[in-house]
Amino acid sequence: MPFDADARIAVEALDAFLAASLAGEGPVITQPPLADLAAALDLERLIAEGGLTGDRLRAFLDRYLSVATRLHHPGYLAHQVAAPEPHGAIGALVDGLTNNPMNIYEMGPGAAAIEFVLVNWMLGKVGWTPPPLPPARPVPGSCGGGTLTHGGSLANLTALAAARAAADPLAWRDGVRGDLVLVAPAAAHYSVARAAGILGLGQRALRAAPCDRNGRLLPDRLPALLDAIAAEGQRVMAVVASACSTAVGRYDPLREVGALCRERGLWLHVDGAHGASALLSPRLRGLLDGVELADSLVWDAHKMLRTPALCAAVLVRDHRRLDGAFQQEASYLFHAKDEPGFDFMPRTVECTKSGMGLKLFLVLAARGEGALAAYVEAQTALAAAAAERLARQPGFEVACAPESNIVCFRLPGSDARQLELRRRLLAGGRHYLSSTEHGGRRWLRLALMSPATGLEELEALIEALRGLAAGVT
Ligand SMILES: Cc1ncc(COP(=O)(O)O)c(C=O)c1O
Repeated sequence: MPFDADARIAVEALDAFLAASLAGEGPVITQPPLADLAAALDLERLIAEGGLTGDRLRAFLDRYLSVATRLHHPGYLAHQVAAPEPHGAIGALVDGLTNNPMNIYEMGPGAAAIEFVLVNWMLGKVGWTPPPLPPARPVPGSCGGGTLTHGGSLANLTALAAARAAADPLAWRDGVRGDLVLVAPAAAHYSVARAAGILGLGQRALRAAPCDRNGRLLPDRLPALLDAIAAEGQRVMAVVASACSTAVGRYDPLREVGALCRERGLWLHVDGAHGASALLSPRLRGLLDGVELADSLVWDAHKMLRTPALCAAVLVRDHRRLDGAFQQEASYLFHAKDEPGFDFMPRTVECTKSGMGLKLFLVLAARGEGALAAYVEAQTALAAAAAERLARQPGFEVACAPESNIVCFRLPGSDARQLELRRRLLAGGRHYLSSTEHGGRRWLRLALMSPATGLEELEALIEALRGLAAGVT
């Protein structure tokens, strides 16, 4: 069976899956036992024997898609993963077949050009100077820089590796000295704490930034913490701010924190994995007011830019910071060459890196950045309306007014009750929401990702929860 015939079968199946998902057909989530699923999909036999083409491929895809979580479904309200704009999936297909690991230019010039131009587009949105397009070279220190990475966690690690290189240039050769600390709100994404472990600072080097009851950093109280750290003989490797936080989706006050970091010569890292996409909207970009004062920023396209996972960006105000983050010798890759393009590899943890920019590029090229700005605005407005409706329900409590497309709420009763309500709701297959801890309590959590979700769906969710609540004590 030729590739194009099987590819047609796959596209037809996906097209039907997409249309059904958008129309709210089928369960948004289903969780059969893994062993049953492996048997139903006939996985072990197919691995041994092959032959999955033509009608057999069609039947397999039907079964596979029948258990796929439906991110485009109006009842998908769970995790911060994009409901991809379909053209992004074309990017995944083209990248998959060409398989141009573009971390060195000679292996994927088209993908590298796309990544360079996308990074420049993002730098421009932040308010940082983009570098000239190669083969032109920037005047050292005159502009920002960046790279795409496989996910926001890796992007945070990359940015914090750059911060470590700036704070302790010898750490790369000699290991960390033990006097470096990382200041971050307790609500920072766990990948920040992981980075502290991976970079050799250790979890004990994490110092909790003072925050209000919504987990938002309090800049007025930050100087006292920084003074205390200095008095202990410790040095701050970086201050981390969230834009926005994972749990409740609130933005830290970047201008105040940024000004303080500039005054004290400290590295400010902004984790904008979820919320940096607000930079596209003139109406919402004020949420990130002052972001240009940061030293580094993470911005995931596979969250709010409707791009299939993975596609995340790490951006720096001064390109030299990222160029100095990793100092590996690899003579087969890094050597003087007449370079018409750009090698991203010195800036990344990854050696082989997919041409992930093609997915984001095709989303933008199909829809234009205005459509993405409108999407971010619409999801943010929907979250505000949802919070208002939820707060009006007798006994319901909303954690805080949403600033993004994330809303946390709870029904009366214990943490265990919230989890049981969620379990029963998911079993119904119509709505899929997540849950989180915030302020020492468990909340039900909506991340409004699907463009098909409207207020009527959220009203149906409230009704469903009311119905379930009667049977859960
Ligand atoms: C604020 C924030 N940072 C980082 C991440 C990690 O991103 P990824 O899942 O792409 O590794 C997340 C994921 O939800 C996040 O919300």
